[in-house]
Amino acid sequence: MISVGIIGGTGYTGKHLVKFCSNHQQVAEMNIYANSTAGEFLHDIFPEFSGVIDNDRIQSADQLSYDHDLYFVSLPHGSSLDIINDLISKGKKVIDLGGDFRLNNPELYNEWYGFEHRYKELLNKKHYGLADLYNINGYHLISNPGCYPTAALLSLLPVVCSYSSKIASVSVNSYSGSSGAGKSPKQHLLLSELYSNVKAYNVGKHRHQPEIQQELARCEYEGPFSFVTHLFPVDVGIYSTSIVHLKESVPEEEIRQTYYENYLGKIFVRLRNVPPELKWVIGTNFCDINITVNGSIIIITAAIDNLIKGASGQAVQNMNMMFGFKPSEGLITESQLEKLELKLGEG
Ligand SMILES: NC(=O)c1ccc[n+]([C@@H]2O[C@H](COP(=O)([O-])OP(=O)(O)OC[C@H]3O[C@@H](n4cnc5c(N)ncnc54)[C@H](OP(=O)(O)O)[C@@H]3O)[C@@H](O)[C@H]2O)c1
Repeated sequence: MISVGIIGGTGYTGKHLVKFCSNHQQVAEMNIYANSTAGEFLHDIFPEFSGVIDNDRIQSADQLSYDHDLYFVSLPHGSSLDIINDLISKGKKVIDLGGDFRLNNPELYNEWYGFEHRYKELLNKKHYGLADLYNINGYHLISNPGCYPTAALLSLLPVVCSYSSKIASVSVNSYSGSSGAGKSPKQHLLLSELYSNVKAYNVGKHRHQPEIQQELARCEYEGPFSFVTHLFPVDVGIYSTSIVHLKESVPEEEIRQTYYENYLGKIFVRLRNVPPELKWVIGTNFCDINITVNGSIIIITAAIDNLIKGASGQAVQNMNMMFGFKPSEGLITESQLEKLELKLGEG
């Protein structure tokens, strides 16, 4: 059993961390830390937890206890650097849901995040925690992937890692709901701006672009790449369409087999016969993926809940891996797991 500190537990992603940790059989104790809400009670911030989760007082992140075994850090980017350096130097385990440690190259932080990275040596010690494909055992600092990169990389890595030399170009078009930007109010995220509307934003300069390219480069693909992010009128969810142009066609069955092998036994990735719908995954830790092969063009559609699969659910998967807990622990019930395993067994 472990004790967990959730720093930023009163935010959009933090709320789900609180819920998952309170359901987790191996989490004996949980403290929530924040900033402006410090001193308030959990039920005043999240009344839906009343009668379900203990009504603890929110602690100030400035008075962090070092007694926890694991810290989830879920703060706005740029705010986590000193806290994480402090925790790691004290031998603690950390899962960072923000972007402060995702990029390997310190030089890129100025360009994409607007700050100078102060802890370059920690960037080499962290592991990028794409939980369904990477093994993070043995690492103390896990950098949890961004929400868009989670959907894009789970869509792309099986094909890119198998056929990198045969790829002419990769493009990703993604759509996100308003919760992707956190809880602080912003004019462009008002209902009156988003309702009945769709728009592209940060074209060619979204900070998740170098993150996706970094992981594609691990599979030796550094060719043409485009990434376009859009806002669409939902509160939660990411829908991602990735297109891979091959230099020559590969048999469709071979491509499908690659995905099947990569996700064999991975309970949180569901390969679908038709393009997934957002409604199938909201409120869950699933990433639903469909592959369409059209000659030398491969089209991969994927849907996730940005706050769960794209953040807190994946972070709990990483915690489970870090401590050797069951992969599904805290995320789905035993009876749901049995049904899933049965379905996976059917192929
Ligand atoms: N939203 C998403 O879909 C998503 C997905 C993946 C990753 N992420 C990343 O996860 C992180 C959190 O995102 P979010 O959407 O949950 O943000 P959010 O809703 O804005 O919540 C931010 C949290 O951080 C706390 N906080 C802010 N400044 C702080 C400080 N200086 N010291 C201590 N606590 C502070 C806030 O506390 P108070 O409530 O007390 O102010 C709140 O609990 C970000 O780095 C984001 O990029 C977000």
